[in-house]
Amino acid sequence: MRQAAIEGGFGIDKLVWREVATPEPGCGQVLVQMQAASLNYRDYLVTLGKYNPKMPLPRVPLSDGAGVVSALGEGVTAFSIGDRVAGIFMQTWLGGPYRDDYGKSALGGAVDGVLSEYAVFDADGLVRIPTHLSFEEGATLPCAAVTAWNALFESGNVKPGDTVLVQGTGGVSIFALQFAKMAGARVIATSSYPEKMEKLRAMGADWVLNYKENPDWGKSIAKAGRVDHVVEVGGVGSLEQSLIAVRGGGSVSMIGVLTGILGSLSIGPILHKHLRVQGIYVGSRAMFENMNRAIQQVQMRPVIDIFFEASEIQTALRYMESAAHFGKIAVRI
Ligand SMILES: NC(=O)c1ccc[n+]([C@@H]2O[C@H](COP(=O)([O-])OP(=O)(O)OC[C@H]3O[C@@H](n4cnc5c(N)ncnc54)[C@H](OP(=O)(O)O)[C@@H]3O)[C@@H](O)[C@H]2O)c1
Repeated sequence: MRQAAIEGGFGIDKLVWREVATPEPGCGQVLVQMQAASLNYRDYLVTLGKYNPKMPLPRVPLSDGAGVVSALGEGVTAFSIGDRVAGIFMQTWLGGPYRDDYGKSALGGAVDGVLSEYAVFDADGLVRIPTHLSFEEGATLPCAAVTAWNALFESGNVKPGDTVLVQGTGGVSIFALQFAKMAGARVIATSSYPEKMEKLRAMGADWVLNYKENPDWGKSIAKAGRVDHVVEVGGVGSLEQSLIAVRGGGSVSMIGVLTGILGSLSIGPILHKHLRVQGIYVGSRAMFENMNRAIQQVQMRPVIDIFFEASEIQTALRYMESAAHFGKIAVRI
C-alpha cells in the first residue's frame, strides 16, 4: 500500500510517498481503509518541524482521517466490516479529565497519522462518523470540530442567548460559529478579508469585524456589548485584545497559536475582570461522541473550502500556508 511520510528532515518538500506492507490488525485492533483526511494548522507546523523539532522521523502525517473498517482483529465486537469511522485525535483519551500521558498518543505527531491507504487503530481509538456526512466531511471532525465543541460545551458552558467571539475563518473558528449558532448563541466573528466577512454573515454571524483594519477590536467589541466566551485561536498576538473584549466573569478558551506562542502582554484583566482562561487540547472520545450526536441530530455539515487528491498533499499544505481557505481543507485518499 502507499503511505505518506515526512522523511529525511522537515519541510513540505520532505513529505514523500512510499510503498509499505499493508498492516494487519492485532488483538483488539481494527484495519481501516482510509478514504479521506483533512488538514489542520498543526499538520502544517508538524511538517515544518515547528510543532516538535525533536519529532522522530519518518512520521506519517495528519491527525484527521475517515474510512471504512476493512478487517477486525481478535476480540473486536464494537465495530463491523464496512462501518464508516474516524480516528480520535489522542488515541488513549477516551473520557474523563485530561492526563499528561494522553498527548503521547496524538495522531500525526507523537504517533503515526492517517495519510495512508490503510491504517490500524485500537478499537477504542475510533468513532463512527455521522451517517449523513461524506468521508471528507467526517474527516474534518477529529481535531478542529472536537476542539471547538470542547471549548464551547464541555470545558465551556455556552447557553442560548450568550455571545461567543470567534477569530478568523479557519477550521476551528468556523466549527465554533456553527456550534454556537446551533446552541442559540449570538456570534461575533473577525476576519481579515472582506469576502470572508461576507461568508461569515451568510453563515449567521451577528456582527463581523476586520481585525487587521481595527487592531483595537477588543475595545470596540467591549464597548458594543457583552461577550461571554472567546474562542481564542490567534495566540500571543490576539490574546490581549480577547481579554479586553470579554465581559467581567466571562471565559476565554486558549486554543491557537496562529500568531505565535511567545510574547509579552498584560494579564491584568484576567484578575481584575475575574476571567476564566481555559486551556483546550482537542478532546476525548466521549466528547467526540457527544458532538457527533448533536451533528447528527441537527444534520449539521462541516464547511469544506477545497478538495485535494492525496498525491497533491504538498499543494494542499501550501494552500493552508496561504490562509486563503474558509473552513476546512479536505484530502481524498
Ligand atoms: N489546542 C488545540 O487543541 C487546537 C486544536 C486545533 C487547532 N489548534 C490551533 O488553533 C489555531 C487555528 O487552527 P485551525 O486549524 O483552525 O487554523 P487555520 O484553519 O489554518 O486558520 C487560519 C485562519 O486563521 C485566521 N487568523 C490568522 N491569524 C489571525 C489573527 N491574528 N487573528 C484572528 N484570526 C487569525 C485567518 O482568518 P482570516 O483569513 O479570516 O483572517 C486564517 O485564514 C492554530 O494555531 C492551531 O494550531 C489548537
